[in-house]
Amino acid sequence: MKKMLIINGPNLNMLGQREPEVYGKETLDDLRKFTESMISGQAKLEWFQSNVEGELVNRIQKAVSEDFTALIINPGGYAHTSVAIHDALKILKIPVIEVHLSQVYKREEFRHTLLTAKAATAIMSGFGKQTYYIAINSQLQ
Ligand code: DQA
Repeated sequence: MKKMLIINGPNLNMLGQREPEVYGKETLDDLRKFTESMISGQAKLEWFQSNVEGELVNRIQKAVSEDFTALIINPGGYAHTSVAIHDALKILKIPVIEVHLSQVYKREEFRHTLLTAKAATAIMSGFGKQTYYIAINSQLQ
């Protein structure tokens, strides 16, 4: 059984209330339920969210000695700035898929630099609520 860690960074706990025209009206918990139902038991998913950069780094470091088969991460705004998250991702030996609900290249220029993505195996951006499902599905084989 595949086991994946899904990490969500800052402000993703505010989905539903946050810029619904960009991110949709569903909450992070709605997104989790949708994704779990699409996966229909084909993988065990563990979800983690923090607004704190160091807590995200700590969770990634903890995963180094756990038995996840892949890491899915939406670093939120830290995707554009965080050397620390980038460096932590580099330590992992499992596939890392960076996900973004929005199509970041269609948005402000400061979102076009994906610093953490340089440490990712693949990126997925712009599929809205389906984004996480597509990323996880790619790691089921
Ligand atoms: C985001 C895109 C980021 O630019 C933004 O800061 C977020 C969400 C996305 O999922 O589209 O917090 O990662």
